[in-house]
Amino acid sequence: MFSCKFLLPLLLCSLFFLLVPPASNSHLLKDCKFEAIYQPGDSISDTGNNIIENPSTTCARLPYGQNFYRKAAGRCSNGLLMIDYIALSAGLPLLDAYLNPNSTTGHGVNFAVAGSTALPTDCSKKLEKSSSWWERSERIIGNGATRIVFPGNLPIVCLPAFLTEFHTNNATAYDEFHCLKELNNLSMYHNEHLQKAIEEVKKEHSNMILCMVTTTILTYDYYVW
Ligand SMILES: *[C@@H]1O[C@H](CO)[C@@H](O)[C@H](O)[C@H]1NC(C)=O
Ligand SMILES: *[C@@H]1O[C@H](CO)[C@@H](O)[C@H](O)[C@H]1NC(C)=O
Ligand SMILES: *[C@@H]1O[C@H](CO)[C@@H](O)[C@H](O)[C@H]1NC(C)=O
Repeated sequence: MFSCKFLLPLLLCSLFFLLVPPASNSHLLKDCKFEAIYQPGDSISDTGNNIIENPSTTCARLPYGQNFYRKAAGRCSNGLLMIDYIALSAGLPLLDAYLNPNSTTGHGVNFAVAGSTALPTDCSKKLEKSSSWWERSERIIGNGATRIVFPGNLPIVCLPAFLTEFHTNNATAYDEFHCLKELNNLSMYHNEHLQKAIEEVKKEHSNMILCMVTTTILTYDYYVW
């Protein structure tokens, strides 16, 4: 086993949420003996920062949270998020939101803010200041991270928000599931560039474990933006 101290998923560019049933035997990461998880990111991984910053956010009302907390508790999902499953698999507590005054930080912190962006914009959030992807990665490594996971963008072709926004009468734009084919090219474009950027970081830090994970999970649930 690798000696792995920190796990830092960087969930930067995804704008949608997942519903995946909890797997009862999912402690695959326990052997890694992670001490802490630190997570930057956005809505796909926010466990409560945005709801504190902006109590009237869409995620602050049902059906968000209904299947896990039975109330809207800050996750932009009706249940758990990927990061929750990662924490559970590692045998760590679910990550508290950084802005939660009650948060315990012994096992890491979640800096993710729903709606935040990889690059600065007018509405960029406090926790995602205007540092570049590269600078942020370097800073995380400098702070002692030994393993970083960069999730690739997911297939976004069936996101209800996008299907509404980019609706077209052009039948050939849709695949057999009535999803917009072209949108997946955007995900693929993003992931190709992410992979290249990771290779660059790897050159500088050959002792680090850096990887990109892509997923083909297509079970989208609630969405806001
Ligand atoms: C923090 O804990 C207090 C007391 O239990 C509670 O009233 C408050 O809602 C909690 N804050 C958050 C953001 O969870
Ligand atoms: C219809 O969609 C396909 C696939 O996206 C595209 O190649 C084609 O140019 C579109 N046709 C029109 C008339 O917009
Ligand atoms: C997606 O990208 C591939 C290769 O880059 C290209 O061949 C294909 O036409 C693109 N599809 C759409 C619908 O734009």
